[in-house]
Amino acid sequence: MNESANFSNIHKFYDFINSLTTLGFDKSWRKLAAEKLNPGSVLDLGSGTGASYSDLINFDVTALDPDEQMLSLNKFDRKIVGKGEDLPFNENSFDNVLCCFVWRNISETEKAINEVYRVLKPGGKFILLDMTRPKNSILKIFHRIGTFILLHFIGLITINLKEYRFLHKSLDFYPQPEVHLAKNEYLSLDIKRTGLFDFVYLAVFTK
Ligand SMILES: C[S@@+](CC[C@H](N)C(=O)[O-])C[C@H]1O[C@@H](n2cnc3c(N)ncnc32)[C@H](O)[C@@H]1O
Repeated sequence: MNESANFSNIHKFYDFINSLTTLGFDKSWRKLAAEKLNPGSVLDLGSGTGASYSDLINFDVTALDPDEQMLSLNKFDRKIVGKGEDLPFNENSFDNVLCCFVWRNISETEKAINEVYRVLKPGGKFILLDMTRPKNSILKIFHRIGTFILLHFIGLITINLKEYRFLHKSLDFYPQPEVHLAKNEYLSLDIKRTGLFDFVYLAVFTK
């Protein structure tokens, strides 16, 4: 089991820092993820402050997150406190599950992937967006040094060193997504990389 970040400590400036650390690209990556959704209902898993709100205007959204402080800033109408490992919904409930920048916080990912499968309708999409390390081993070293400096610096100036140290370490929690996500019971899985050194991935699962 992984340790995890306490998002309550950083909820007020989470969105700002997120944009800063991704040079504003987080918005375009979330938009890219939302474009993969089927029409209908969406479970925004790990919705946090609701950063995907503007991308999900045309969907029937349920926002779920374990952190009540993050949810207090979230504009979606339907908000539920809960975890990806134990979803409080019946099977075949949603047309889509969207999960942006959350996966590294989930300690029991196998359980969560099965839970998402259970609550999705047949043909439903599980859209998973997150950061990882580049595939190339040289670029991986540069990336590790860069994120170490940047995230420790942000941790120090916001007096939340523990949370930002976690975010740095969490990039190494799991194997590359092409390996880590390969074992699943979905009908299909497509993984694309983007961002500097390809450190961001977008995985599209179809049930
Ligand atoms: C980095 S934020 C991402 C928020 C939002 N999805 C976004 O795109 O900015 C990670 C969120 O995952 C939530 N989280 C942590 N552990 C979780 C779990 N086991 N299941 C679901 N969400 C979790 C945190 O509370 C936090 O709000």
